[in-house]
Amino acid sequence: MAIAIIKCNKGFYGRPIGRLFYFCTMAEDLLIITGTKKEQYEALIPQIKGLLEGEADLIANLANVAAALKEQFNWLWVGFYLIKNNELVLGPFQGPVACTRIKKGRGVCGSSWEQKKTLIVPDVEKFPGHIACSSASKSEIVIPVFHNNEVVAVLDADSKELSQFDATDQIYLEQIVSLISFS
Ligand code: SME
Repeated sequence: MAIAIIKCNKGFYGRPIGRLFYFCTMAEDLLIITGTKKEQYEALIPQIKGLLEGEADLIANLANVAAALKEQFNWLWVGFYLIKNNELVLGPFQGPVACTRIKKGRGVCGSSWEQKKTLIVPDVEKFPGHIACSSASKSEIVIPVFHNNEVVAVLDADSKELSQFDATDQIYLEQIVSLISFS
């Protein structure tokens, strides 16, 4: 039996159906997976790669990554802050309106930037200096995004649940942000 791997046009991505076949579908048809957290990320990552493929515009790509994460996981808030003039400025996100500017070392986002590492906060009330953009946020993860070994942005995700985020989220979210070209 012949097997065709179809390269999809811009705006479309290859969607797995069964083990070997793909078909091109509209970008808005994100395939939402149920299952373990690992299974959800492993289904989402090829779709994110498809969304990013062939698109060089940074804002468009950040917007689609935030939207894909929100659709799959339905966290309270997920999005990016970009470093501009030595502070974090709100970028593409999904969720309630948020604080627009965060200084280096402030809050979870500014601390992740300063420490150049992912921070997982199981209970935001126990994080000294946490910036509460929404009173509904109970736990949080912030991933620094690197370009040429410098932090250029952070990905922030907030949940209404305590202890939502763990090492699995860290592994896959670090992988996801590494797919985004900041050059
Ligand atoms: N809680 C973050 C601020 C950003 S919002 O959650 C969207 C912080 O402490 O840095």
